[in-house]
Amino acid sequence: MTPLLRMEEYSQKVMDHFMNPRNVGEIPDADGIGQVGNPVCGDIMKMYLKIKDNVITDVKFKTFGCGAAIATSSMATELIIGKTLEEALEISNKTVAQALNGLPPVKMHCSNLAQQAIKAAIDDYKKKHEASK
Ligand code: FES
Repeated sequence: MTPLLRMEEYSQKVMDHFMNPRNVGEIPDADGIGQVGNPVCGDIMKMYLKIKDNVITDVKFKTFGCGAAIATSSMATELIIGKTLEEALEISNKTVAQALNGLPPVKMHCSNLAQQAIKAAIDDYKKKHEASK
């Protein structure tokens, strides 16, 4: 079980993205959808992407996860909007954690969810895109 953390152990940026997450929701006509589960804790995340000319034009997410998963997903969505698919795939969970001014080490596994969900959504888009060619 994850040890109990005090709020002071989270950066202000993490708290801000946790309390006011950006891009929460779903995109009904998404071009790619990715759903992943975290093997460490069982939490789940779903990511929706709108893609035009190889660029991510919109992204929304929903998670059944902890505060760190919400904050990292929120930050990750802000980082990938406007990026090409290749650029988005290069954004690591460490990059996201750094953009949030760090995460407590025991919560680093939570940052994997967003990164994996983005990858799954891009894979889904590529599969559909290839199929429609
Ligand atoms: Fe499950 Fe954080 S404890 S994603």
